[in-house]
Amino acid sequence: MASRSSTSTWLVLFVGLLAIFLAPSSASAAEIKTNPTEHGFRLPLPNGVTGAESLAFDTRGKGPYVGVSDGRVLRWGGSAVGWTTFAHHEDYRRIPLCTVPVAPSHETESICGRPLGLAFHRQSGDLYIADAYKGLLRIGSDGGEADVLATGVDGVPFRFVNGIDVDQATSDVYFTDSSLTYPRRFNTEIMMNADVTGRLLKYEARTKQVIVLKDGLPYPNGVAVSHDRTYVVVAHTVPCQAHRYYLQGAKYELMANLSGYPDNVRRDGKGGYWVALNQEKARPDMASMGPVKHLVGVRLDGNGVQVEELTAAKGVTLSEVSERSGRLWLGSVELDYIGLV
Ligand SMILES: *[C@@H]1O[C@H](CO)[C@@H](O)[C@H](O)[C@H]1NC(C)=O
Repeated sequence: MASRSSTSTWLVLFVGLLAIFLAPSSASAAEIKTNPTEHGFRLPLPNGVTGAESLAFDTRGKGPYVGVSDGRVLRWGGSAVGWTTFAHHEDYRRIPLCTVPVAPSHETESICGRPLGLAFHRQSGDLYIADAYKGLLRIGSDGGEADVLATGVDGVPFRFVNGIDVDQATSDVYFTDSSLTYPRRFNTEIMMNADVTGRLLKYEARTKQVIVLKDGLPYPNGVAVSHDRTYVVVAHTVPCQAHRYYLQGAKYELMANLSGYPDNVRRDGKGGYWVALNQEKARPDMASMGPVKHLVGVRLDGNGVQVEELTAAKGVTLSEVSERSGRLWLGSVELDYIGLV
């Protein structure tokens, strides 16, 4: 792991490399550009925590803010400040085993919280948090103990709150509850048992009510409000697809078949979307092909056509690809660092 002083050296080196990576590509629409991430910069998380599943930058461009395995949202304050605690659920401070880790995080996460989705509301500076166990939370720009906005809808408690995005014009918040049956800790059961009890939800800013937009969904995960704010992209981890939910008319339509199991979705800088992949799809021809590229992310254009892919070393999986000023910040559930390419 890099120390903080070497971190800044790497950053300088890295900016140099970026110029190469981001050089205009002459690829035609039919070619898919491949962007390897192995040589990117690594920003280590504090000792003992993993899982920057989601990343967000505040209205002043500070951050990233990341949700980690012990239930906290951390903020990166630059190499001189490092990571500080920004927000948490009230139980994090109230329950001793959350702050003095005595058990692996997967055994305590239902008690301490597990922030999986982060999205800022630019006008207010508030950060909305999709916490797998604690529900829909919100915290002001000073941080601290997050307010719980909702823990269920229509009398049905949330089970596995996951992806989130804010419509900056209406202040409405879109989020997913991945399953009514299985909590995050048992997420592999969703796939094994072909669970289709996930929901796409909306927290309406005006009424402060949660509304079910679509239920009976297979493993809905990441969400992103479209560039023109006419639809919301929803990633379904199984069956490896992205859908669009049209805000007018409520039509739910297949947008893309994906080459892996998607996690979070974010708008890119070109009218499309970055979709992070937890795992590539097994292909029948894999054995005969020898080692295949290890895919960790894809960029879709606005029509759902895959135009770029990200690859990484074996063992690396991504939960989010967040584009900022032409750079890609990479979050992962399992890793103890975040990446930057
Ligand atoms: C996705 O795959 C299905 C069949 O596997 C196909 O019918 C459909 O047209 C594909 N859709 C897109 C948007 O690629």
